[in-house]
Amino acid sequence: MNVFHCSLPYKYILDILLLLLVASNCRSDDNPGEEDNNDNCAVLCSGELFEDVQLLRLFNSSTRFPHMKLLSSPERIQHEFEVLKNTSNVLDRGELQKFVEKWFAPPGLDITIVMPYDWVEEPHFINDVYDIKLRGWLHDLNGIWKLLLRKTPEDVKENANRYSQIYLPNPFVIPGGRFTEMYYWDSFWTIEGLLLCQMHHTARKMIENLLHLMKQYGHIPNGSRKY
Ligand SMILES: *[C@@H]1O[C@H](CO)[C@@H](O)[C@H](O)[C@H]1NC(C)=O
Ligand SMILES: *[C@@H]1O[C@H](CO)[C@@H](O)[C@H](O)[C@H]1NC(C)=O
Ligand SMILES: *[C@@H]1O[C@H](CO)[C@@H](O)[C@H](O)[C@H]1NC(C)=O
Repeated sequence: MNVFHCSLPYKYILDILLLLLVASNCRSDDNPGEEDNNDNCAVLCSGELFEDVQLLRLFNSSTRFPHMKLLSSPERIQHEFEVLKNTSNVLDRGELQKFVEKWFAPPGLDITIVMPYDWVEEPHFINDVYDIKLRGWLHDLNGIWKLLLRKTPEDVKENANRYSQIYLPNPFVIPGGRFTEMYYWDSFWTIEGLLLCQMHHTARKMIENLLHLMKQYGHIPNGSRKY
């Protein structure tokens, strides 16, 4: 018995779409997409502030700081940090903490949870599974789609230099609850699963996001963040 029996047409549709992606990748190599001119990497992924935050282990996770929102422009924050460094001989952890609290908002403002409107309660393929236990498990598994759809708020588009998150025009599936961005490699398997579960609209929107990244950057980044 093949539990993940997939009806062939869906499989072909995915392969064709991915071929199209590869084809457009080759084309945009000749004409690379526009680079993001709202570069905040000087604050969120390099520079003195970034080094101090990471080396003093201000947070228990190394991605917490790069996922924060800048509360002012990267230039202003860099300037303020230079002033602080100039006025204190040795910057201690407490001062650094206060600085980060003043100029950054905690992570989480760059993503919202959305409900997939094409979710199907009983995808056809589950009926082909005769083992009742397995069928129940697949049923539960199918329910997880409802927990994994995300969208980037408009503010990420309008204030791109305040976030490491890259704005995506459509909702996307994250590979698990703790993730806060879309990943390229994971999206391949996600889209296979979405097609199997008859969520064609969500699958299409995921592919459109990948095409959007291709147009903007000339390639599809590993994940939808700039660090
Ligand atoms: C890490 O820090 C965050 C925020 O301060 C906290 O919510 C979380 O529980 C901490 N995680 C661990 C594993 O200590
Ligand atoms: C910090 O000090 C350096 C060296 O004295 C100086 O060149 C720089 O202009 C100062 N920066 C600010 C923002 O005060
Ligand atoms: C690329 O994405 C994968 C998930 O698909 C992740 O495990 C890996 O850490 C990422 N690599 C980099 C360099 O960020």
